[in-house]
Amino acid sequence: MTILRSRREIAKMRESSRIARVVIEELIGAAEPGVITQKLDDIAAETIRRHGAASATVGYKGYPKHICVSVNEEVVHGIPGKRVLREGDIVSLDVCVHKDGYYGDCAGTGPLGEVDEKKKKLLDVGRRALDAAIAKALPDNRVEDISHAIETTAKEMGCSVVREYTGHGIGTSMHEDPKIPNYGRPGNGPRIRPGMVLAIEVMINSGTYEVKVLADKWTVVTADGLPSVHFENTVAITKEGNEVLTCLKKT
Ligand code: MF3
Ligand code: CO
Repeated sequence: MTILRSRREIAKMRESSRIARVVIEELIGAAEPGVITQKLDDIAAETIRRHGAASATVGYKGYPKHICVSVNEEVVHGIPGKRVLREGDIVSLDVCVHKDGYYGDCAGTGPLGEVDEKKKKLLDVGRRALDAAIAKALPDNRVEDISHAIETTAKEMGCSVVREYTGHGIGTSMHEDPKIPNYGRPGNGPRIRPGMVLAIEVMINSGTYEVKVLADKWTVVTADGLPSVHFENTVAITKEGNEVLTCLKKT
């Protein structure tokens, strides 16, 4: 059952989502060639703490770090560590925090310096797929309308969508109903209603859709070693449409 949130609850999620976005923005500034991914975790830990929030991932099913950092062929759940970032990499940052009992979840992928054409195209497809998905996150649509928008945006550009991992509802825990796959049939799945809060996640691969999990039991990589991107926003469904909670608001 998907829970419908009150205005008071949405206000709390707006704050945790804002913090998740602020952390990502700070990490984008810190990610440069020569930096190890653990350094990004250290920065995230400090920024999350300074905002009075806590990481949702530390200790989640034994996950050891504050954020996920997934480079190139790594799709999601890359564990920060000794990997050195290099010019030409694409880097996915995934930050989920909670504050006052409410969660906000956000991810994005960006280039480190000059990247090849394949990666440039993939980044563009990923951003467009997330926008197309959010455009379908409207009252009275169905969850798979969102899924279908992701799938068609990716496939039109010759890319593939990950099937084993999905977006999700979010609220008083990181993962709630409904699951939001990256593929689906229009008009299928649960009805979208005002008060739902959805973490819409786009995971798109350059080559095969197939993925595998590394021996560290977390890092998901593409089966063919080709690059992958990950974009995620936390989106509240309103009567009129939706509000992206993980956007930086200009003040
Ligand atoms: N944003 C990720 C998700 O929604 C956070 C979970 S990472 C994990 O799945 F490693 F902790 F699982
Ligand atoms: Co998520």
